Amino acid sequence: MITVVGSANVDIVAEADVFPNQGETVRGSSFQTTPGGKGANQAVACARLGEEVQLIGTVGSDLFSETIIKNLKEQLVDTTYVEQVSGPSGVAVILLTAGDNRIISIPGANHSLTVERINAARDVFRNSTIVMLQLEIPTEVVWCVLHICKEFQVPVIMDPAPATSFCHDFLPYIRYVTPNETECQQIFGTSMEEAIKQYPNKLLVTLGKEGVRYHDGKQQIHIPAVEAHVVDTTGAGDTFNGALAAQLHRQKSLFQALQFATVAAALSVEKFGAQGGMPTNKEVQAKLT
Ligand code: ATP
Ligand code: RIB
Repeated sequence: MITVVGSANVDIVAEADVFPNQGETVRGSSFQTTPGGKGANQAVACARLGEEVQLIGTVGSDLFSETIIKNLKEQLVDTTYVEQVSGPSGVAVILLTAGDNRIISIPGANHSLTVERINAARDVFRNSTIVMLQLEIPTEVVWCVLHICKEFQVPVIMDPAPATSFCHDFLPYIRYVTPNETECQQIFGTSMEEAIKQYPNKLLVTLGKEGVRYHDGKQQIHIPAVEAHVVDTTGAGDTFNGALAAQLHRQKSLFQALQFATVAAALSVEKFGAQGGMPTNKEVQAKLT
């Protein structure tokens, strides 16, 4: 089983031809609410690919919480450890233009996830093959998950977003860390080439339409992205991480897993919404062959 510990949001998406400049108003073309949050997205990405997956997270007591839970259940994500607390659910306000987005994320209930709840789920971690983390939850919770995973020797994939919540001391506890290029620069403060060399077979840098780069201990490896007709790139990184976890869970090599993940992520950007384009295993296989 794959376990994801992370955020669940409702994404409020406004689409326009261009982003407004400071103090400017532009006319939008559409407005929609869709399921999101990096934790929920990554769990749904795994589920779409046919994996048994558990999300540990928190929703609020508002109407959005029902939308979030209903969607997770429909997507066959195990919600046993998704707790409801009083107050608002997590929300992300997303401005979308062709091929680009800008996001304001308001944590809401996601910041009510506690160390006590993680400790109460120790058996879930013990029975997991892989644990996935992002940083839209409290840092002490991230630490607690890392310590438990170390104790049970469960590999952790961390998507270090938002990078401002990343702590370098996490690194010895993580098997794979998957920043995008901006996050890589923010975290390591050096060129991507230098950073991946320092963390071979561990630091996997996603580069949007350029694919992914890592170092295998001997040389830099570049897996190019697959060409896509871009509708919405929101959640591309989440699809990538979910697919990576699913493939590692199936004992694939890192290289094979990354090839699969770049195909899955390319398919995901061809539809609207963070979760809207997440592919099934069959859809990825069809594109791989
Ligand atoms: P997001 O925050 O939007 O979820 P991210 O910034 O974390 O994404 P990216 O590096 O933009 O991550 O994208 C992750 C992966 O998705 C890339 O490595 C690539 O494989 C795929 N991808 C992203 N954009 C495109 C694109 N335009 N065409 C094809 N593949 C893409
Ligand atoms: O990675 C994309 C996600 O980031 C969105 O779904 C939004 O909710 C934010 O958390």
